[in-house]
Amino acid sequence: MKYTALVLVLVILVAANACKKTNSTAPVPVPPVVIDTETLQGDAPFKIGAAIDVYRLQIDLMYKNTLLAQQNSITIENAVKWQSVHPSENIFDFSGGDYIADFCKNNNKRLHGHCLIWYQANPDWLNNYNGDSLAWEHLFKTHIQSVVAHYRGKATSWDVVNEAFRDDDGSLRVQDKYPGDNFDDGCIWARHLGSDYIARAFEYAHEADPNALLFYNEYGQEWSDAKTNAIINMVTDFKARGIPISGLGLQMHIDINTSNEGITKAIQKLAATGLQIYISELDISVNPANDQSVSFTTDLQKKQADKYAFIVHQYKALVPSAQQYGITTWNVGDKDSWIRTYIMHKDWPLLFDDNYAKKTCYFSFRDALKN
Ligand code: G3I
Repeated sequence: MKYTALVLVLVILVAANACKKTNSTAPVPVPPVVIDTETLQGDAPFKIGAAIDVYRLQIDLMYKNTLLAQQNSITIENAVKWQSVHPSENIFDFSGGDYIADFCKNNNKRLHGHCLIWYQANPDWLNNYNGDSLAWEHLFKTHIQSVVAHYRGKATSWDVVNEAFRDDDGSLRVQDKYPGDNFDDGCIWARHLGSDYIARAFEYAHEADPNALLFYNEYGQEWSDAKTNAIINMVTDFKARGIPISGLGLQMHIDINTSNEGITKAIQKLAATGLQIYISELDISVNPANDQSVSFTTDLQKKQADKYAFIVHQYKALVPSAQQYGITTWNVGDKDSWIRTYIMHKDWPLLFDDNYAKKTCYFSFRDALKN
């Protein structure tokens, strides 16, 4: 009863106020609408992306709003890696990837799938799988085609194969080089399917979605000539054989001391293939040695900002615009970075801080996109 009376009084007050406004000749002050007109996506001549963690997207409004405003391309950081999307032999779990795909569709963002075939992030059932080469080929093809077909029309592009070559000599990862260190740096695919598995992965993906752009994605091209050359040789071979490769991802997990010359050389060499060139996982560590006494000083902020700007300038200058697939950072805020969550370093590698405030490097990055 009391509640009804209160509502009634409120309604009368609101109505009276409305009448007062209508009858008044004085201009009604309009509150200013604040729109962030200066955004990365607004200032870039190509797509600007971020790799996205599903859980953060679901729970953190600041994370989501930053993405909505700033980026127009999204990479699925982990949700469609084999371990997540194919947890047992006959089960596919698309829930995480679908959440991101819906987010992209509803908000008009390009979706980049990561990654179909990798030597890491494979589930135990797969690592321990017993079967002959035909059975392995069947698993390999079924996985690629099920995942690509599921996102057909939703994912514009895919990292088909990730990190197949070694850093030191550019040879193919096959056997585990240091058995006993609890990390298999070889590759189950090369062991079971032979060295031509990369080409077949591209063919299978292309069959499942002929419109998807297909990328080979790799780290370390900026410091390993051997690896860069191996990638270029692979592309030359693929072109000669008609293997459907569309682009190359330069991950660029670098730090403030990474040689500028190395960056320039890698971009130049890869761009000369004529394929789409994608800076696919950019982050710039300021504390690669994980020194616990380091803090994020203005000097480090400036060095990081200069490096971010340098990369954008080189990308714009050295990659013809028709080949510019874009630049994606590996997540959004410093606290989301794999450098904090996966290798647990004390670091500040991304464009936004822990509260999604724009860092010095955000502004240098955006200025470089504009000018
Ligand atoms: O989501 C689970 C959580 O439920 C569980 O409690 C927790 C405990 O381990 O793990 C969580 O998953 C972790 C996931 O990151 C999300 O944080 C995985 O264990 C962990 O392996 C995974 O690490 C990812 C790593 O690749 C390995 O897949 C990083 O986030 C991801 O940033 C990193 O990304 C790679 C690219 O794919 C390829 N290039 C290099 C890049 C950086 O290493």
